[in-house]
Order: sequence, then C-alpha cells, then structure tokens
Amino acid sequence: MKLCLLKETIPGENRVALSPEIAKKLIAKGFEITLLSGAGDKAHYSDDLYLSAGATLVSEEQTGQADILLKVRKPTADEVSRLPANKILIAHVESCETDETLKAILDNGITYLAMERIPRISRAQSMDALSSQSNIAGYRAVIEAGVHYGRFLPLMMTSAGSAKPAKVIVLGAGVAGLQAIATARRIGADVAAYDVRPETKEQIESLGAKAIELDVGESGAGEGGYAKELSEEAKAKQQALLAEELSKAHVIITTALIPCRPAPVLVTEEVVKNMREGSVIIDLAAANGGNCPLTEPDKVVTKHGVIIVGHTNYPSMVPSDASAFYAGNIMNLLNIMVDKTDEGLVLKDLDEDEITAAMQVKPEA
Ligand code: NAI
Repeated sequence: MKLCLLKETIPGENRVALSPEIAKKLIAKGFEITLLSGAGDKAHYSDDLYLSAGATLVSEEQTGQADILLKVRKPTADEVSRLPANKILIAHVESCETDETLKAILDNGITYLAMERIPRISRAQSMDALSSQSNIAGYRAVIEAGVHYGRFLPLMMTSAGSAKPAKVIVLGAGVAGLQAIATARRIGADVAAYDVRPETKEQIESLGAKAIELDVGESGAGEGGYAKELSEEAKAKQQALLAEELSKAHVIITTALIPCRPAPVLVTEEVVKNMREGSVIIDLAAANGGNCPLTEPDKVVTKHGVIIVGHTNYPSMVPSDASAFYAGNIMNLLNIMVDKTDEGLVLKDLDEDEITAAMQVKPEA
C-alpha cells in the first residue's frame, strides 16, 4: 500500500500531513511512503529526515503511483489540476457545501476522506484531527493574547511595583476553549468561562476557572457533544446577560461554534466599547464570521481601543507539533483502513466501517 505525502501550497499553511517519526512507524507496519520534495520544510521536517525514516522522494508525475494521497488542507484549484485521478485522498474538506474545486476533485474519481467528518465517538478519538488541532489552537490563542496585551497575564510582584493578574474570559468550552482555559490558568491569569452546554460547568471548574452561568431560557445542548443553535430570543438574552461580565474582561478568547452554521455573536460592539483600552479579543471563530462582529479574518485590528485578533490558522503557528499530531491521527485512521495479509496490506471496504463511511465526501454534501 503506497502513500504519497503531498505539499501544502496555501499561503500561511506550514503544516504537513506526516511527520518523519510517524512515517517510520507506518513503514514498519508495511506501508510504502513517498513524498514531494520539501513537503515538510515549513514544519521543520527536512527531506533528509523522511529519507532516514525510509521514505522516498517522487516527482509530481509519480504521485499517480500512490494508492492514498495525504494532505492537511483541501487541495486548491491549482493543486487539483495536478492531482492524479481515482485515488483515495485524506485531508480536511473545510466546507459543508460542494464548491467548484470539490466538485472537480470528486469528478476525477477521487474518494475523499474528510478529517473533520470523523465522528466524535470514543473509538475514533485517536483519529480526531478537529480535536488535536483545536487543542493547539486553544493553547496558541493564549500565547497570542499575551503577545498583544500590553500588560502581564499573571500576578507580578517586583520591587518596582506589582501588577494584578489579567481577567481572561473564554467563551465556548469545547476542545479549543478548555485548552485555552488550562493554558491561561497555567500562566497565572484569573480565568472565567462560559458555554451554552450546561455539562461544561464541571469541566471548566476542574481546570480551576470560574464557570459563568446564565439563564437564557433554554438549553444549548445538541447532539454528539455539540451545541444547538439558540432561538433569536435566547440569543438576545445571552448577549445581554454576558455583556456585563465581558465588559470587565481584559482578554476574551472566543471559541463558540455550531458545525456548519455561522458563528454566534457573543461579543457585541457595545461590549467592545465598554472594555478597558488595550484589552484583547482573540476570536477563534474568525473564519466563520466571528463571535465578535468587529473581527476581520486574518487581521489584527484595533476597534474602540481594543485589539481584535482574527487569525484563522493557529495550528499552523505551531507547525511541528500540529503536523505530528495530525500525522498521529492519520496513522490511527490508516490502521482501521487496511488488513494485513500474506500479500501485504489490503484496503478494506470503506463503506463497512462507520468511521470511514462517515468521512466520505459525496457530491451533494
Ligand atoms: P467544539 O465544538 O469542541 O467547541 C465549541 C464550543 O462552543 C462548544 O462547547 C459549544 O457548546 C460552544 N458554543 C456553541 N454556541 C455557543 C454559544 N452561543 N455560547 C457559548 N458557547 C457556545 O469546537 P472546537 O474544536 O473547540 O473549535 C472551536 C472554534 O475554534 C471553532 O469556531 C473552530 O472553527 C475554531 N478553530 C479556530 C482555529 C483558528 O486557527 N482560528 C483552529 C481550530 C479551531
């Protein structure tokens, strides 16, 4: 079974789908690994490291010899023109709708396994790239806040004076949010958090943060550990109830998400106006419209004296570890996709396993 590690070409994307360490493990399991030269450069994994692991370099034309193509991001229109036909592609699909690029990939006979469609069930936890990458985003978001905040995050007592810890509020306590809470606590900030799913209270408190509880008149708990969209009335109530808490925050990290829906607005312009000058908002939902309407994707802007950070790819800012985690997810996925036989590794029927069945992108999806 031959795997080919492709190159990411989207500007700002530094990750790669396999690390040399995982490549070595896959080779030991019987996979053959090829890669395009320079695929891991931006993640600080040189060609030499892959070659020492037992992989071989191939040209663009030779990628067609592989059975399975590995990527992090959805191929761009330009990449699609060079993608060999009738292969299995494992990558993020990054959309709930079928656009022209995706259509071209599927029309080319590609079986597209979307990493973000791995079901959130315990058996699939070790393959869950959304979780591994969101964890990194939650950590990196706090580091970013520290960079932009003109004061200390922890309590500082020096002979020249002392500084109080920053008041950090995390909105959304899913994977990214919980990691942001844990990281901000480790740094020594004063942390509170809010999520619309009541079961998160215990998780927030177990990390040593204060859980903000609001009565919005309905539960936000949806299916599969995700939130459901609130009614218009509950949304308005939520914004109003949150406003006072948020105005007192020095750093807000927002991670509220409902899959395939625009991000809920939690930090209104009014709240931003009331925040202390120099406060920071890190809006992780920037790519989906933002949890703050003033957020601009991939920009850092200052509005009403508040610095609003809209980076859309935090995992790419920690490329070595993000790639290593993603590669680990891919290896665990590949393990369930093949059978070991006397003739070598044989691909199983992808429709038979609930994980690979759920991951397949269909034209109408
Ligand atoms: P998740 O599904 O684990 O967590 C989202 C949380 O938001 C859930 O706990 C949900 O209950 C909560 N939520 C939904 N609506 C809410 C509301 N109205 N009020 C309060 N809480 C609400 O998702 P995950 O993986 O933690 O991702 C969070 C966000 O971070 C997503 O928007 C995701 O796209 C984004 N993200 C951004 C990255 C970046 O580089 N900017 C990287 C990774 C994730």
